Amino acid sequence: MSTIWQQRAVRPTSSDNPRGQAALGLMKVSQGQSLSALMSELEQPLDSSEHGFLRDLLLGSCRYWHRLNAIAKMLLDQPFEGNAEVLHSLLIVGLYQLEIQQKSAHAAVHATVEATESLGFGNRRSIINACLRRYLREQEALLEPLNDNPVTATSHPKWLVKLLKSAWPDHWQAILASNNQPGPICLRNNARQQSRDDYQHQLHQADIGYRSGELSRQSIYLLTSQNVTALPGFPDGSCSVQDEAAQLAAEFLAPQSGERVLDACAAPGGKTCHLAELADIDLTAVELEANRIPRIHENLARLQLQAEIIQADASQPDQWWNGEPFDAILLDAPCSATGVIRRHPDIKLLRRREDIDALVELQQQILTQCWRMLKPGGRLLYATCSVLPQENRLQIERFLEQRDDASLQALTAPGNVEQTGLQLLPTEDSHDGFYYALLTKNSKVCQ
Ligand SMILES: C[S@@+](CC[C@H](N)C(=O)[O-])C[C@H]1O[C@@H](n2cnc3c(N)ncnc32)[C@H](O)[C@@H]1O
Repeated sequence: MSTIWQQRAVRPTSSDNPRGQAALGLMKVSQGQSLSALMSELEQPLDSSEHGFLRDLLLGSCRYWHRLNAIAKMLLDQPFEGNAEVLHSLLIVGLYQLEIQQKSAHAAVHATVEATESLGFGNRRSIINACLRRYLREQEALLEPLNDNPVTATSHPKWLVKLLKSAWPDHWQAILASNNQPGPICLRNNARQQSRDDYQHQLHQADIGYRSGELSRQSIYLLTSQNVTALPGFPDGSCSVQDEAAQLAAEFLAPQSGERVLDACAAPGGKTCHLAELADIDLTAVELEANRIPRIHENLARLQLQAEIIQADASQPDQWWNGEPFDAILLDAPCSATGVIRRHPDIKLLRRREDIDALVELQQQILTQCWRMLKPGGRLLYATCSVLPQENRLQIERFLEQRDDASLQALTAPGNVEQTGLQLLPTEDSHDGFYYALLTKNSKVCQ
């Protein structure tokens, strides 16, 4: 006789329980969807007071997925199949609360088992209950083999551990450890509105703890988690949320008033806005993805800044460029995002080794085409939030070998670990991982 869960024709699409929603979200991420694209849909059936909890469950379950998935597999006699696959993700969410959050065992098990009901699989509650209780009983024996394997000890995919180990023999373990710590909130003071000291004074008066960043002139770290929209002057553009290493992009490109500047891969517009904050420039922002364009408009509007926004492919300038060269170009290239895993832990599940080669190829195409649009004597800043040399140093070394009209300018910042360009690695309680190379186009042009 078939059970109710086998008879279900429709895959569960939503639940009114935050653990149920986290399980649905985690399942979708494990099937290839990004958390940022899913988040508002997942929040929708829940009360707004539960959104923070849902977010914690989702980010944490992704962050520790490789470890918790291995435990879940050991606990299950046979895998959940078909529509019931969501229960595998629910088990991971339950394990996250016990193993990582170290929640009270009774409450976490009870609430996770209850969530089976909201997903329409109440008849399978005994399996989730039995697995979580077995985990609590046999934790030590179950975890022991996991600690010897870097994939399950650090909760990263095998291919990434391998690449990081070979690229950064002295730093790979620190990178993996940083990736598992949520990054701090970093603000960029809007220098058009006030000095950093003035804004820090406003934070002090609002009783908000902060410290000044050391890499970027306008950076301020908040010492505790805050609703940023409630920060002093935020709705009117007093500051933006932006990692400190990301703030170096506009500082390194150093736009000058009157210059014609291109931001070639612009959404959501963090660096577009920073460029426009620094000088009165003629700014063009190009972005391929139509659904990412509204965020650029929103950010510019809040900060009361202007730019021309074009939805286009930066690797195909003949389709949109009017032929007038740019004085300065920021190419914040699409990349593996391996420097910002702590802020986007779903990258651990979404990215594949083969993606890297495709990204390197795309970056090369965009770089070559942006170079065509640069004035002789102009400068181009190549940037990625990657820590992989393939996308960074090796990309730039190959470009320099192929061109005799390009020169690399020196960039300095504390923490640089690279010779060609500047590589920052993600650092606990501080900045993300970023790469920068500042290229200038020799006046004797050879295209
Ligand atoms: C690293 S993100 C840019 C972040 C942005 N500079 C900021 O600071 O907010 C890269 C962006 O490039 C866009 N993109 C990818 N391929 C592109 C292409 N061929 N032309 C233009 N934009 C592209 C992606 O959609 C993504 O929004």
